[in-house]
Amino acid sequence: MSGLGNSGSGGRPGSLEARRAAALERLKQVGQDHLLAFWDRLDDAARESLLAQVDSLPLDVVDREARAIRAGRASADSVPPDLAPASVLRRGDIDVAHWSAAGERVIRAGRVACFTVAGGQGTRLGWDGPKGIFPSTPLSAKPLFQVFAEAIAAARARYGAMVRWYIMTSPLNDAQTREFFASHSWFGLGAGTVTLIPQGTLPSLSRDGRMLLSSPSVIAVNPDGHGGAVRALRDSGALEQMRREGIDTLSMFQVDNPLVRVVDPLFIGLHTEHPASSAEASSKVVPKRNAAEKVGVFCASGGRTMVVEYSDLPAALASSAHADGSLRFNAGSIAIHAFGVPFLERIAQGAGALPLHHAAKKVPHVSVPEGQPVEPPSPNAVKLETFIFDAVPLATKALVLETDRDEEFAPIKNAQGEDSPASSRTAQLERAARWLESRGTRVARDASGALRCEIEISPLTACDAGEIPARLIPREVSEGQTLMI
Ligand code: UD1
Repeated sequence: MSGLGNSGSGGRPGSLEARRAAALERLKQVGQDHLLAFWDRLDDAARESLLAQVDSLPLDVVDREARAIRAGRASADSVPPDLAPASVLRRGDIDVAHWSAAGERVIRAGRVACFTVAGGQGTRLGWDGPKGIFPSTPLSAKPLFQVFAEAIAAARARYGAMVRWYIMTSPLNDAQTREFFASHSWFGLGAGTVTLIPQGTLPSLSRDGRMLLSSPSVIAVNPDGHGGAVRALRDSGALEQMRREGIDTLSMFQVDNPLVRVVDPLFIGLHTEHPASSAEASSKVVPKRNAAEKVGVFCASGGRTMVVEYSDLPAALASSAHADGSLRFNAGSIAIHAFGVPFLERIAQGAGALPLHHAAKKVPHVSVPEGQPVEPPSPNAVKLETFIFDAVPLATKALVLETDRDEEFAPIKNAQGEDSPASSRTAQLERAARWLESRGTRVARDASGALRCEIEISPLTACDAGEIPARLIPREVSEGQTLMI
């Protein structure tokens, strides 16, 4: 520990002590000056680091949310009184060939890039490391990132155009993700065409609205949620790069869904040209499995389309049903969106800040002023985060397309049960079998229709049934056979 010599109020301008005094003043104004409680115990390097952390805090935002917490309200987490189901476009309502052709033109013109949000921690899955590394495919156990990489490579080849890939990591998994891609030679995509962008962080707050210290010189923070993507895309220069290269459409998906159609001509065509879209924010939904399914729901309020997260949808609304028993709020978000790049630029310029959501969380910290480590047995803090789908109501017109769950959504979220590696495996095998059956292959099934063989189709081979080359289509896949094409 080193002394400073000038511990009076002030110190030389620019000196450590002067900067401490300035930081203390700013923190006092928002009732957070306890962050410097251990200053006298810190060495100069720790003091520098702590001051840098304080300087980077959005104190106005922290103060606003701290007040909301103390007042017992979380502004973004209540639903408007006029909430109604969103209007949804179904395949039967549209000319699929027409809009697919429109989308293909957009992709061929090099106007599309992919964007994966992969900053989450995979806590529910119990997977230690970036979720994109999780082995996901039924036979070859390809990591999720490889599945997406192959689909992007296939799109580039198919449409003869560059399709860049941006991946949002978090400060917690960026290094591991980078190492993974480097050690797999960026899956042949070209390092310069895959860009990893770490998202930002926000401080965790105690139940009485105070920021927490995870050690005497480190402020406790959490990743700022996937809504942090807007800022991260701007600050990293990605939005600027897209503008420069004429990329105006971002095809966004989460890291957990191996069935995602990463570049979907139909969806891109609808997003860019359909009259129900302003080419700003389009989304895919599937009918909910049941009222309790943990998916956000597309709703309408005040003439705007919005997503209400499952944790925020009141139970009475989640379970309210039509006379035939079907759910009223049935448009389940599968977190697949198309965003207009100019739209994201507009939001990034602050034209419509994304609201902050509050989530209860266990945050280990040191007590102030005792300096004792605290390992909370139950949630003791509030995590602040923004969600990318809160951009949807900021769009002039937001198109919502209903799609087929069996074709496009089998996420890996939980260790067991629904949305687990096992349920996703079954869905992947089933889809591959269906694709071959639709092309004339006889696939071994038992009397109940359950598969009696295992098939995996690489995205490099096909991203839908129609793309499978005829020469690869077998007459039969027999009982007990495994087939990889
Ligand atoms: C998410 C959606 C939900 C949707 C469902 C569909 C949210 C808040 N909810 O639920 O509306 O119906 O998927 O599968 O997204 N991530 C980051 N940074 C973060 C936090 C998360 O990049 O700070 C990424 C994760 O890596 C993951 C995705 O966002 O790809 C979803 O995160 P998760 O918290 O697992 O959301 P779900 O509860 O699955």
